[in-house]
Amino acid sequence: MKTVNFTRMEDGTQGEYEFLDALEDQFKEQLPERLIETLARLENSISGYRISRLEHSLQGATRAQRAGESEQYVAAILLHDIGDELAPYSHSEMAAAILRPFVSDELYWIVKHHGVFQMYYYAHHSGGDRHARDQFKDHPHYAAAVRFCHNYDQNCFDPDYSSESLEFFRPLLHRVFSQPRSDDQEQQARYGKK
Ligand SMILES: [Fe+2]
Ligand SMILES: [Fe+2]
Repeated sequence: MKTVNFTRMEDGTQGEYEFLDALEDQFKEQLPERLIETLARLENSISGYRISRLEHSLQGATRAQRAGESEQYVAAILLHDIGDELAPYSHSEMAAAILRPFVSDELYWIVKHHGVFQMYYYAHHSGGDRHARDQFKDHPHYAAAVRFCHNYDQNCFDPDYSSESLEFFRPLLHRVFSQPRSDDQEQQARYGKK
């Protein structure tokens, strides 16, 4: 397989970076399938609940779809716990970082903070502050984050709910993750591509 010659990025040529950019574009196109593979692994995530994290995510996404939420919204629910496997101390931020180029600023904010908003439903049982979300009470997306967790997260541990399959959501995931928002160019400049 063809590769560049450099061993230090500072020595690469324009031609080499054009070659790498083309390969990177192809790799990005496979993002939806990589997300689906990662979601599938949530079948074997945290135990003890009555359903797996995959089923939990599918249940939330199915409820959102049936309630008429947008495709971006459904995709955000599907991915909201995708960080459980690799980011057990910061799973909200990990999911939000994946979603950022593809969803509204509001959805990005909701997913980034959903862990704190979820605490309202359980933290008091283990010495935590269930009202930690109050720090955001004046934020413009506060009510939307409450709604997200109340309707599509805290209530989605029901083994008797009939959810759609991951396969069902494949076309939606391809649509949402095929193209970053046009204003993401600016974000790429800020965060760097490589
Ligand atoms: Fe979560
Ligand atoms: Fe969740």
